[in-house]
Amino acid sequence: MAQILDDISRTFDEFLLVPGLTTAEHTPNNVSLRAPIAKYRPADGPPTKVLNTPFVSAAMQAVSGDELAIALARRGGAAFIFCSQPIEEQVKMVRLVKEHKAGFVVSDSNLSPDVPLSAALELRERTGHSTIAITTDGKNSSKLVGLLTSKDYWEFKDDLSRPIRDFFTPVEKLVLAKEGTTLTEATELLWKNKKECLPIIDEAGNLKSLVFRKDYFDHKSNPDELTDEQKRLFVGGALNSFDHVERGSALVEAGADCLCFDSSDGYTEWQKKAVCELREALGARAEEVPIGGGNVVSKEGFDFLVREAGVDFVKVGIGGGSICITREQKGIGRGQASAVLEVAAARDAYCKETGIYVPLCSDGGLNNDTNIMMALAMGSDFVMMGKYFAMTAESPTPTLTYRGRLYKPYWGEGSRRARNWQRYKQSEKKELVFEEGVDAYVPFSGALADKVASTVTKLKATMCNVGVLDLKELHENARITRVSEMTLVEGGTSNVEQLDRVYTEGH
Ligand code: IMP
Repeated sequence: MAQILDDISRTFDEFLLVPGLTTAEHTPNNVSLRAPIAKYRPADGPPTKVLNTPFVSAAMQAVSGDELAIALARRGGAAFIFCSQPIEEQVKMVRLVKEHKAGFVVSDSNLSPDVPLSAALELRERTGHSTIAITTDGKNSSKLVGLLTSKDYWEFKDDLSRPIRDFFTPVEKLVLAKEGTTLTEATELLWKNKKECLPIIDEAGNLKSLVFRKDYFDHKSNPDELTDEQKRLFVGGALNSFDHVERGSALVEAGADCLCFDSSDGYTEWQKKAVCELREALGARAEEVPIGGGNVVSKEGFDFLVREAGVDFVKVGIGGGSICITREQKGIGRGQASAVLEVAAARDAYCKETGIYVPLCSDGGLNNDTNIMMALAMGSDFVMMGKYFAMTAESPTPTLTYRGRLYKPYWGEGSRRARNWQRYKQSEKKELVFEEGVDAYVPFSGALADKVASTVTKLKATMCNVGVLDLKELHENARITRVSEMTLVEGGTSNVEQLDRVYTEGH
């Protein structure tokens, strides 16, 4: 007869944290959210491979492109660039992140001197950028002939049909710097010359990048930025268990800092074989690049991936994702809280037995900041989120308006729209027989930096209430209570009239 587990499958919303003693040292400034991303021996000292902010973005087409990866690494987290695309496309995205030089921007607004001034206004409207590089043929890497900013024309008085050559500031009058200039030198030049923008050119006078004064402040206000040893931004790459050797090797070659198998069920011989083959192919480089496995929802799944496959971190969660219909379609999965609690207990037992700590990542179904807090308190080291990031300005999809509100498209990797042959190869005909994800829209929530900053502030404030200063202390000291239905009612507002709620919450 089938075995019925004693435990009921539970979600994060069914629990609350009980405050612990908050002392004078428990202030948000003293709280660290650093989290290990690879297994390590606590007896040998603190982990060396860490996230500064415990958030990673889901390996999904509607989430993890290069722009989001850059924005997230700058806030201390990491993106896993999706693998449901050709290897060369994924590699290109990884390269774009690794080549991103903080402060040096490839100009996205460029025009030739011959086009009318109206073209500059249209471009400004489209990109939101008022500094336009004027190059011989209007391309971003051609010979620079000048800069056009909103100080160069008066849009309400000037004749918009006149060519830009009548307005722009020519290159002879600009302060320029040569390729190879450091960010500190570029910033000093901007300051000394009281300029807002410094074009960087090569020996032949071709435009390479632009440095803006305003980015200096942005850089200074990003102390959590996650970089590799060469100060390049950190980025992860997702893998499937079909072309893992070729894909994984190409991603590492391109500079990926971390790899992770993207599978809805990682408790499989396939994944073990794939991890072992990839390790062998990477040789010594496998020591440097953590390889994550998943997803699992049980002690057995954890033990299999760690003891047999030897993964560096384990991703937890089946069926909880916001666009996921796996439980509905296949009847498998587990409430995310139950899954994290059981896998965290297995992780702690493994650590006691072997002295090796294996980080856990709670993946999917985090509907608000309190869910993130609970995932961390229950033993996750970091969380993977899809919807949270799909909603931001930096996700790869366009912003759309519907009935006066802004939305972004968001679809599952197992939906028909994703055409993800790798993840759902169930039929003999290699067709998608049934979907495991939906194609949807999510409200637009603005810049990733603002959203992450707001969530981080809340997490730190809650950790002060709990009386802990880091995630290790949180795991050891969190006291969590189950809530009754009436407690949930009590926790909401009561007997007050709320006017139409303004959408301010990030999720
Ligand atoms: P979210 O943060 O709740 O939106 O969930 C994102 C997670 O859902 C991803 O990291 C994947 O683990 C999972 N996922 C992505 N696409 C699908 C799908 O089509 N079906 C089921 N789960 C999915």
